Amino acid sequence: MCGIVGYIGEREAIPVLIKGLEHLEYRGYDSAGIACLGARSSKFFVAKEKGKLSELKAQLNGVPSNIHLGIGHTRWATHGQPSRANAHPHLGQNGVIALVHNGIIENYAELRAELERHGHKFKSQTDTEVAAHLVERYYHGNLQEAIQKAIQRMTGFFAFVVISRDDPSRLFACKRSNPLVVGVGHGENFIASDISALLPYTKQVIYLEDDELIELRCDAVTVFDLQTGTRIKKSVSRINWNVEKAQKGGYKHFMLKEIYEQPEVVRNTLEARVKKGKIVFDSLTQKWIHRLKQIDKIHFVSCGTAYHAGLVGNYMLGESLRLPSEATVSSEFRYEDPAVDEDDLVVLITQSGETADTLAALREAKARGALTLAIVNVVGSTIAREADAVLYTHAGPEIGVASTKAYLAQLMIIALFSIFIGEIHPARKKDFTQAKARTLLKELSRLPRQIEETLRDEKRVEVCARALREKKNFIYLGRGYNYPTALEGALKLKEITYAHAHGYAAGEMKHGPIALIDQTQPVICIAPSTSKTYEKMVSNIEEIRARKGIVISVTTRGDENVRSLSKYTFSIPETQEMLSPILAVVPLQLLAYKIAVLNQRDVDQPRNLAKSVTVE
Ligand code: AGP
Repeated sequence: MCGIVGYIGEREAIPVLIKGLEHLEYRGYDSAGIACLGARSSKFFVAKEKGKLSELKAQLNGVPSNIHLGIGHTRWATHGQPSRANAHPHLGQNGVIALVHNGIIENYAELRAELERHGHKFKSQTDTEVAAHLVERYYHGNLQEAIQKAIQRMTGFFAFVVISRDDPSRLFACKRSNPLVVGVGHGENFIASDISALLPYTKQVIYLEDDELIELRCDAVTVFDLQTGTRIKKSVSRINWNVEKAQKGGYKHFMLKEIYEQPEVVRNTLEARVKKGKIVFDSLTQKWIHRLKQIDKIHFVSCGTAYHAGLVGNYMLGESLRLPSEATVSSEFRYEDPAVDEDDLVVLITQSGETADTLAALREAKARGALTLAIVNVVGSTIAREADAVLYTHAGPEIGVASTKAYLAQLMIIALFSIFIGEIHPARKKDFTQAKARTLLKELSRLPRQIEETLRDEKRVEVCARALREKKNFIYLGRGYNYPTALEGALKLKEITYAHAHGYAAGEMKHGPIALIDQTQPVICIAPSTSKTYEKMVSNIEEIRARKGIVISVTTRGDENVRSLSKYTFSIPETQEMLSPILAVVPLQLLAYKIAVLNQRDVDQPRNLAKSVTVE
């Protein structure tokens, strides 16, 4: 998804912009560009290129120096193909204004037609170029005013950073729905769509809200209301992510590093949330908890991997607590006229905290009076700020586009939250006792070591991956708590290997997918022995064997029965069924990773995917 960087200060701007864009590469992009202005230039220096940042950098040999103002962008195509012409920044008709943009201007076609009637000529197919022309049309020496007037004409959502060739002493930015963060330095200031781009330079940040307009100078940051122009007082926050954390740390890919960080992520979650045998959610106020106790139904709303976490949550609440719950993908929830009101809790699960559909679902839920809770990884993200309450997953920055450690962190928080509800909610299942909560907490505390043990099977997974690397179709089967694990295993494989994979509730096999099974078909069966449907999974495995399918099983260590029925087995340590998805997904992440590497896929930035899907 698109990334924005802006800089003003004493350093050479171009290397600062390039480094910032490198830190945004993980978001996924198809082209990149910069526009800069020297102190005495009368013209922007602009460089843009399709493809990776290395293509852009190749254009920067021998560029002018003494440039201290600039904007940069990584683009993920929405309007128009990935190309140099469509890459940002875009300039106005006479090259007076340069801007970068994240988001979509919904009425760009009519604005473009209007500008064309006034003689404007466009070089790209983008909505962003229309915005550059519009700002320039309204510009008569006052950039702030021009931006405000142009925004009044646009519908949609955006984050803009704008500079004028008339004034190298400042940069303007504004936002609606799309994120922007200011990085505060000494004698210099930064702006970016994502904290990662600021990490090399500063840990002091100002989070911007919708409809704010920002003026950045070397030594000042001023925030205004976008509509009225009145000044807004903002506070500076300190972030504790460091640059090393966002680097590969010796692993070949971010994804592998993140898979191996999972024991630490789970340990950190437990340390932060379980104190003296009690679950502690500091961010939940007494007032919020009071409302939670009156809730009749819980809805998990999320996308992709986070949706699978919601499905696991649905089993946790439904099965363990007997509380009515439902998991829905955000894009359905927002348009289905959801049956939620003030008696419902809507839990939004999101790694990025910026996913457009999940944000819209949150706003829909709030509009209907529901109590909302966000389970988010990125601190200060839009969803975290807009929900009534937030539980951060604190998995650290997740750079690999395919989510791994954030998923485990989401499952951990959902498991803790379920136990927490079990302890306080009057309508919980009768047999959900303090003793049961204690047992679950004890089992949770064993998970970090158990994940480490599971990771020791990497070599075994590699053997299986070598055997299956050329397969084009995979089936994943699971039941109950591990039906979502089947979906997640299949999603991981699709995302990074580009092979087709389909996850099913194993009981559905005989209602159709069984037709696919022959001696060439790999079927991954998730069959932990602590599951109450274990015998049923064994029957599914037998059915696959009867049709000569290739059985790959995930089962509990020591289960010789399933091992003997499988061509390849990945074993996980024994845990409560409710917690088994936290272990069972780990070998499936590794399997997808290994097959992708063997097939030389771009593991961390798979084609067509973006880390943070901020458009619909
Ligand atoms: C995960 O591997 C995917 N890249 C994707 O499905 C992701 O989980 C989804 O887009 C939701 O993102 P979010 O957690 O940032 O909301």
